[in-house]
Amino acid sequence: MSELVLNRSQYLELEKLALGVFRPVGGFMNEDEFRGVVGRMRLPSEAPFPLPVVLDVGKDDAARLKGRPSVALVFGNEEVGRLSPESIFTCDKEAVSRQVFGTADVAHPGVGFFMRGGDHFVGGPIELKRRATFDVSAWELGPDETRAEFARRGWTTVVGFQTRNVPHRAHEYLQRVALEIADGLFIQPLIGRKKTGDYTPAAIVAGYRALIGGFLPQERVLLGVLTTTMRYAGPREAVFHAIIRRNYGCTHFIVGRDHAGVGNYYGLYDAHALVRRFDGELGIHVLCLSGPFHCSLCDGIVTERTCPHERTAPHAVRHISGTDIRATLVGGAAPDPRLIRPEVLAAVRDLPLFIEEDDP
Ligand code: ADX
Repeated sequence: MSELVLNRSQYLELEKLALGVFRPVGGFMNEDEFRGVVGRMRLPSEAPFPLPVVLDVGKDDAARLKGRPSVALVFGNEEVGRLSPESIFTCDKEAVSRQVFGTADVAHPGVGFFMRGGDHFVGGPIELKRRATFDVSAWELGPDETRAEFARRGWTTVVGFQTRNVPHRAHEYLQRVALEIADGLFIQPLIGRKKTGDYTPAAIVAGYRALIGGFLPQERVLLGVLTTTMRYAGPREAVFHAIIRRNYGCTHFIVGRDHAGVGNYYGLYDAHALVRRFDGELGIHVLCLSGPFHCSLCDGIVTERTCPHERTAPHAVRHISGTDIRATLVGGAAPDPRLIRPEVLAAVRDLPLFIEEDDP
């Protein structure tokens, strides 16, 4: 039988491919593309592309699909798309993890997702027959929709903002920097597959509604979610996120401190260095911004570029860490209002805040 059952995140990746979110990649990667991306962060065409977009399957499915010209992709008993398997391949997953994530430690959530997935990959052109309709899809805008909306609003410069969190004051500061320099700001929280303990999609969207509605110029901000898997791949994922936002029609993209990082796997500004290696090639201008913090002497949110006190009066400085804020919330305490707005917290208080188990 030429059909393959997809899990939720595979279905969402299929949909993103079909919508042009990963352009120039338009189908699940074949072996050549995969090797180029893993080894050199480039497609065979030489276009920069730092992360694999693959369809992983088990050994039996790999054997069954071999030689088939076309395969029905099934989700929930329905054919949602088709794939022409062009290449079925395997890899040394530990070696690939080291290249892509900089570690093969399965405690790293991106490595964990990769290791727990199938050991074979089916690459080839795809076709989408039905858009995904999960509860989170209601908040999603595709690349054609954002481009049309940017044009309707008369925005010629648009800054894209990636996040996987309920907004804190460092995020807000970066967003205000964007609003200073561009016509519009596109806030696009990533709410695809994420690790246990990350914020739920509902909490992120509610937090942003409160921030945008209460504190930002609404007509200059667009909110729409991105349903792709979070890889936690730090610097490589920063480049990947920039390419995605280019495809959504953004002209600029923010990469701040420890972008797409997790634990202590990446240096705080490693992503800035990697982005610079692709200078002029990404088709989007990346704003490499340093980390905002609260300074009691300056009495507000500042950065090392605007405030001297990190060096001269370090006691006055409070760094803003999303991980610490999450830990405070888990412990049932109220985080410091200088670090996250009480109005944002009030908007999320009655919602399930954290993802309780890995969602394949
Ligand atoms: S991410 O994993 O999606 O990057 P997050 O929601 O924490 O997570 O960050 C969104 C963006 O804000 C990223 O560009 C990140 O680098 C930046 N950022 C988050 N927290 C800080 C901070 N305290 N200082 C500076 N930049 C930050």
